[in-house]
Amino acid sequence: MAVRRLAEIQPESFAFTSENRAWADDQIKKFPEGRQASAVIPLLWRAQEQHDGWLPEPAIRHVGDVLGMPYIRVLEIATFYTMFNLEPVGEYFVQLCGTTPCQLCGASDLIKVCERVIGPQRHVTDDGKLSWLEVECLGACCNAPMVQINYDYYEDLTAESFEKLLDDLRAGRPVTPGPQNGRQMSAPLGGPTTLTDPSLYQNRRTLVSDTDVASRAANDTAPSPPPPSSAPEPEKADKPEVADETDDKAAMLDAAERPEALEGPAGGTADDLKRISGIGPKIEGILNELGIFHFAQIARWTEDNKAWIDGYLKFKGRIDREDWIGQATTLAEGGDTDFSKRVDEGNVPSSKD
Ligand code: FES
Repeated sequence: MAVRRLAEIQPESFAFTSENRAWADDQIKKFPEGRQASAVIPLLWRAQEQHDGWLPEPAIRHVGDVLGMPYIRVLEIATFYTMFNLEPVGEYFVQLCGTTPCQLCGASDLIKVCERVIGPQRHVTDDGKLSWLEVECLGACCNAPMVQINYDYYEDLTAESFEKLLDDLRAGRPVTPGPQNGRQMSAPLGGPTTLTDPSLYQNRRTLVSDTDVASRAANDTAPSPPPPSSAPEPEKADKPEVADETDDKAAMLDAAERPEALEGPAGGTADDLKRISGIGPKIEGILNELGIFHFAQIARWTEDNKAWIDGYLKFKGRIDREDWIGQATTLAEGGDTDFSKRVDEGNVPSSKD
């Protein structure tokens, strides 16, 4: 590992926002008396998040003050773990895996793209959008070559798809994390080849429904629908967990507003919601079951509607990250997005029924 030094130019000071300080105090309370220093990593991480993705020296001292730790001990931790960035990063910080499996699958081509589009490692582009760093294995070797950008993995990249990804991010266009060649997670490119017998999944509470096993799309990570009413009851041991999940979901969904639903598609024809990046056949089916058939319906979602759907699908903000409403607005007005054009040209396997 290369020597990791603090950035030459540092801010004058750093302090947690009141919200982050309250969060930090909650973290500290989780540890027994005298062991508060155990909260050092989450606090450093929160400080990094607050400071645009990198950790300045005043933040390291501030965390030491909050935890009553000698500054040198906090510094040792911040400089040891490569998850902490010690110098400024771009709005989109690319961590490019350069370890052997990714190298064998083309990581060196991705490095050339970074050098050409962004510049040398650690350089932040003039618009502040991009920076990159070569890192060791990120644990997604079966989808090599891959990069991590902020919190998301982008896998099965080629030089072309990676350069387009960087362009899209820079231009604020929606992108879809995960495999970039249309395959389903780590399954073979043409779809799963094992465990495809639907009978294997009968009487299983958490797995996908019978007909979905072979067709679940790479970007379709919504929870599976409940088993059909004709399916046998789950085994007794599973019941308490189901009840807890249901209660949590009900409580969460009560807090927000369900979007306007139609009994069926207006004019008898539904829009192809799969033209929205982030919606595959499975999620489209769930939206249709909820009475959502048209781009214009999604374009009209309020913040509460969006929160309701996000909670229902357990998406944790994915609707915003993928900008469903922006895409739906464009499509509802008769326009196209880069993604919808690729769908229309048949170049997005995961958008096919
Ligand atoms: S070698 Fe690249 S993710 Fe493991």
